[in-house]
Amino acid sequence: MWQPTLREADGRPALCDDDFVTWTEPANTATALLLLGRGSDPASERGVDCPGDLPAPSDPDLVARATAAKAALGDRVFVLGHHYQRDEVIQFADVTGDSFKLAQQAAARPDAEFIVFCGVHFMAESADILTTPAQRVILPDLAAGCSMADMAVLGQVQTAWEHFEDLGIAGDIVPVTYMNSSADIKGFVGRNKGVVCTSSNAKRALTWSFEQGSKVFFLPDQHLGRNTAVLEMGFDLDDCVLYDPHKANGGLTDDQLRNARMILWRGHCSVHGRFTLDSVREVRERVPEVNVLVHPECRHDVVQAADYVGSTEYIIRALDAAPAGSAWAVGTELNLVRRLALAHPDKQIMFLDRTVCYCSTMNRIDLPHLVWALEELVAGRVPNQITVDEDTAHHARVALDQMLALP
Ligand code: 13P
Ligand code: SF4
Repeated sequence: MWQPTLREADGRPALCDDDFVTWTEPANTATALLLLGRGSDPASERGVDCPGDLPAPSDPDLVARATAAKAALGDRVFVLGHHYQRDEVIQFADVTGDSFKLAQQAAARPDAEFIVFCGVHFMAESADILTTPAQRVILPDLAAGCSMADMAVLGQVQTAWEHFEDLGIAGDIVPVTYMNSSADIKGFVGRNKGVVCTSSNAKRALTWSFEQGSKVFFLPDQHLGRNTAVLEMGFDLDDCVLYDPHKANGGLTDDQLRNARMILWRGHCSVHGRFTLDSVREVRERVPEVNVLVHPECRHDVVQAADYVGSTEYIIRALDAAPAGSAWAVGTELNLVRRLALAHPDKQIMFLDRTVCYCSTMNRIDLPHLVWALEELVAGRVPNQITVDEDTAHHARVALDQMLALP
């Protein structure tokens, strides 16, 4: 059994064949990702297929309409697709990626008049901030938010910061916000000389931040903050405190705040938060040589018990590099795990939880919404444009540029 290993997206050693063990296919397991038509589990509804041919979806012309609208727009439109998007949408993406790669790609396309962002609201906001004023960013469904981003509201964060000022510690603190936060929060971080990070570069962002100050205020994902500080940078769990915005002074004493190195905001991802230590134990019992591969938004005990941890781009590379016959239990969003399982039929790729779950807001972007957005653009109308006000955008851009410039 491997020891838990944390590797950064950049500069991490490539996985090689020696890293893997030979795997013999077990009987269907409770957590195996049963792809439609490739197996079923009589004890649950997982993988159950309908016999015979399914009728066509309600509008069989949608693929043709999306293709035609995209062709009519040509180079005027650039479609970005996050890895958690549905297949029906991802097939129309000009580029797919994790949130870091998509931010870079948005910034690198100054000639595209329209950026159609197939992802969630905070990603589209970041794209608007990073693109030129002439470019328009479109989110096909405005209901595609993010529950984690919603857990940090500017007023709450300002209240916390004022408390740090009263305690005389604000000058020692560098605020760091995960990309998965609103533009308001990124603006707050930029105003206070901090940086944005993603799951691909959190260690680099924290290393830079601890060169600027002795403490970090990490928003809004407690798990990414704790996992990076403790498992990648050698901090103790005791160096971290959890600031609860719903309690007076975050529920922390003055001394706890004065002594802390990492002040973690009490936020989390509702999708990655589903994976538990029990899910890891269970899959290890049933598939003894399984590799457990998780996203750093998972809880600390889950990441500690895993073999590999990394961003969505890292997860994709790890599974691409894995040898035929190896077994993987993957703790991240289901659209991506399912796509990887289909792309690698020679490997056993499982979802790391009995309860299979998509990110409900990522899933809001479906083919009908994408077709509607593209056809509106063809008709000369700009639907669902995401704009960030100039002042917020200016300060958020400082924090985003600082991230893009991280060594
Ligand atoms: P990354 O794209 O940075 O891996 O983050 C995953 C996520 O939860 C996006 O919403
Ligand atoms: Fe937000 Fe989690 Fe969904 Fe990503 S997967 S958009 S962090 S709720």
